[in-house]
Amino acid sequence: MMPLLRVVVLVVAVAVGVVVGFNVDAAPLDQHERFASQRKGRSLTPRAYEPLPVGSITPKGWFLRQLKIQAEGLSGHLALFWPDIMSSSWIGGNADPGLHERTPYWLNGVVPLAALMKNAHEDQLAQARKDGSSGDPVCQEGVDMMYSDLTDLDVSRVNACHDLCVNTTACIAFVVDDCNKDKVHCWLKYAITAKNNATCRCFVTMTGAFSAQADKYISYILQHQKPSGWLGPDDDKSGNMYWSRFPVMLSLAMYAEANPSQAATIGTAMLAFMKEASKRMQSTPFSDWSAARGMDMALAVEWLIKNHPQGQDDFLFSFLDLVRKQTWDWETWFTNFTTGANPHGVNNAQALKSSAVWFVASGDEKMHESSRERMRNIDDYYGFASGVLFCADELLCEAAERKFPSRGTELCAVVESMFSYNTMFSVHGDVLFADRAERIAYNALPATWASPAGGDMWNHQYLQALNEINAAVNDVHVWTHDGPDAETYGLAPNYGCCTANFNQGWSKFAHMIVFTTQDGGIAIGAYAPLKAALPGGGEMDIITDYPFGDTVTINVTAHRAMPVHVRIPSWAYDAVMAVDGARVSATAGQMNKVNVSAGTTTITINLNPKIRVEHWFSEETISVHRGALLFSLPITPNYTVIGVHPFQSRDLQLLPTTEWRYALKVDPADPASSFHFNGGGYHPGTAPFNHTSWAVTITAQARVVPTWGLEKNSAAAPPASPACSNTSSCGPLVNVTLVPFGGTELRISEMPWA
Ligand SMILES: *[C@@H]1O[C@H](CO)[C@@H](O)[C@H](O)[C@H]1NC(C)=O
Ligand SMILES: *[C@@H]1O[C@H](CO)[C@@H](O)[C@H](O)[C@H]1NC(C)=O
Ligand SMILES: *[C@@H]1O[C@H](CO)[C@@H](O)[C@H](O)[C@H]1NC(C)=O
Ligand SMILES: *[C@@H]1O[C@H](CO)[C@@H](O)[C@H](O)[C@H]1NC(C)=O
Ligand SMILES: *[C@@H]1O[C@H](CO)[C@@H](O)[C@H](O)[C@H]1NC(C)=O
Ligand SMILES: *[C@@H]1O[C@H](CO)[C@@H](O)[C@H](O)[C@H]1NC(C)=O
Ligand SMILES: *[C@@H]1O[C@H](CO)[C@@H](O)[C@H](O)[C@H]1NC(C)=O
Ligand SMILES: *[C@@H]1O[C@H](CO)[C@@H](O)[C@H](O)[C@H]1NC(C)=O
Ligand SMILES: *[C@@H]1O[C@H](CO)[C@@H](O)[C@H](O)[C@H]1NC(C)=O
Repeated sequence: MMPLLRVVVLVVAVAVGVVVGFNVDAAPLDQHERFASQRKGRSLTPRAYEPLPVGSITPKGWFLRQLKIQAEGLSGHLALFWPDIMSSSWIGGNADPGLHERTPYWLNGVVPLAALMKNAHEDQLAQARKDGSSGDPVCQEGVDMMYSDLTDLDVSRVNACHDLCVNTTACIAFVVDDCNKDKVHCWLKYAITAKNNATCRCFVTMTGAFSAQADKYISYILQHQKPSGWLGPDDDKSGNMYWSRFPVMLSLAMYAEANPSQAATIGTAMLAFMKEASKRMQSTPFSDWSAARGMDMALAVEWLIKNHPQGQDDFLFSFLDLVRKQTWDWETWFTNFTTGANPHGVNNAQALKSSAVWFVASGDEKMHESSRERMRNIDDYYGFASGVLFCADELLCEAAERKFPSRGTELCAVVESMFSYNTMFSVHGDVLFADRAERIAYNALPATWASPAGGDMWNHQYLQALNEINAAVNDVHVWTHDGPDAETYGLAPNYGCCTANFNQGWSKFAHMIVFTTQDGGIAIGAYAPLKAALPGGGEMDIITDYPFGDTVTINVTAHRAMPVHVRIPSWAYDAVMAVDGARVSATAGQMNKVNVSAGTTTITINLNPKIRVEHWFSEETISVHRGALLFSLPITPNYTVIGVHPFQSRDLQLLPTTEWRYALKVDPADPASSFHFNGGGYHPGTAPFNHTSWAVTITAQARVVPTWGLEKNSAAAPPASPACSNTSSCGPLVNVTLVPFGGTELRISEMPWA
């Protein structure tokens, strides 16, 4: 039996989110009764804050740069070379066998990302050309792509080969040989396979419009729906056959929002699929992943009821009940992690939102407390001291293991937790959930990428750790259920699920920032620079460098007076907010309601964050935070390429070249006074989470603790604090620079104090 360890928060006051503007006792019941009498049936309980439709958001500033880095990294290239997407069984190929989950995972991220890139007019990915005139990346000289020829022929010049490829449906790349001055030989390619060195040859990939990739997959899937209604491959007859359709349903819903002209067709396809699934579920109920993750299917059913019920409310509500009945009992599981479900890390991350999903289906107010309780419980049992993640290297760790910050967390659990906490915020309105979603988005998600260029999104990990002194193939390792390469950076270390699933991280987060509210207004649940088109006209412009800056300006252009609910994070207890220059109250840990009139209103917020030192369950270690960011000691890596894939995709092993065994000098009475913040801010155009030129840093003083050693090739658990009470046992005081956790590849984030 697991002991229940209590979180001890010594320095941070964690405010309990108070829901403003959403009377949980009365409003949903009134709405329920009103809708019920209109439709003589059940109705959904409205969310506290309903996300704007996909297609409403235009990212700007650092956020646009980050999303473009994602689109121009793995997200926009997997369909060009990674068999599980490129030749997927979902589009008539034979890759992505078994669970058939990889293309669905990828679509769940690229459908919303395509909408963001289109709105920002950044849809065209950098296109390689040999004419040198465009300034775009040039043809890779001396490289021949062998095999996979669609055709080959002589052309007059390199651009003619390019044009042929553009105009040939299956062509995704071409090779030219221009040794001969009179003519160029041109090979059109349908896949990117083995590379070979060859003089005169030059290889060019046709990336084109990023959104065209999503269009191609979605239209293939819709056009190949079976007469029965089933979508996609149909070679599994077990209760696990449903699971990969859940992210397909969510992708279709987002695609319908972003492409209103196709919404009716998509609604019909989704309903037909649900009818077929319902039929099959009578004789073959959910099992395995389907049973663990049914809340995602329920989310899609709720979307259909709300957006395209097609007069089928009765069927859809009974299907929703069936889905719930066949989904594991996560409500019991999260009370003490003994029965009802299982400790698989990604299942737990995904299931965090189950009570929120069931609340919308049932209006059962107990579900709200259930959501709050599970967040406390998963932190208490499995949370790491930094408050960013819970320990899940495949399975949840033994409770005692979270004292060991070298243990890892899977990337799929990172993005699923983000989406779950955002959904919980959207449904229940508690700021606590939005705080956590943002903490994961601005720390864990960027931290899991490495490259010698710094800050791009080509090479990711399966497992990331808070204290990570190397990212090497370690046969002896501290993680318990994953392979020796699980902490290396690459195309698909350990297992390919996260290569497909990471795509949803930023792109779904972008769509959970601005919401409509039940009182006819707008809510802002997170901060990132963007513009949102408001329903019924008008727009909201969020102007900020946050989390690299402390101020936010919100310009609301409204056609009518409306309330705006503004999240003030729990840590922002000195925040100052003004509406058109007049100060209004800004309470930390709450949604703060302000009124705007018709026309343009400017809301300014100064979040005034203080440096915070957090201990979560032990006084032995500290983590350093400011605003939404965790700060870590970066370790300079030595990169070794251990695998080469097309484009810039590489497998990398990283070894430390700099000292990491530090204890921080902290004044126990006033820990934050020991640090100095250097707020350079974000420089337009740069990679936001670069690994060298950091936007913001903190300087501190520290001493080397020579006794801090290794355990199973990782940093051992931090030594007991105070680590240097015995003055002879530590090195001299030195200055160290702490940087955003998201801008590190190797680091120490939980440290002892000297
Ligand atoms: C082929 O593609 C180019 C664009 O690269 C376009 O200008 C041209 O009209 C196309 N030619 C044909 C025959 O479709
Ligand atoms: C091609 O040759 C260059 C120079 O000899 C070498 O650096 C490179 O690794 C070779 N590339 C391949 C794919 O063989
Ligand atoms: C765990 O919680 C369930 C449901 O609340 C309860 O029935 C069970 O006794 C608890 N088990 C333990 C070991 O605490
Ligand atoms: C926001 O509104 C203020 C006041 O109306 C205006 O000065 C400013 O230019 C606006 N900013 C943007 C980016 O629209
Ligand atoms: C906002 O408007 C509402 C209704 O018009 C009013 O009751 C409320 O007092 C106003 N709040 C503020 C802070 O002005
Ligand atoms: C980097 O690693 C390589 C291969 O392990 C080694 O040969 C080289 O000396 C290392 N360089 C540094 C600066 O540590
Ligand atoms: C990160 O910064 C380095 C050094 O300034 C630069 O060379 C590199 O291009 C940057 N990375 C990206 C993705 O912009
Ligand atoms: C201090 O360090 C010395 C030398 O390492 C050791 O002998 C002694 O036991 C230590 N004292 C304490 C209180 O840890
Ligand atoms: C550490 O930084 C402080 C403040 O900038 C400076 O005065 C001091 O000399 C530095 N100490 C060392 C050992 O570099």
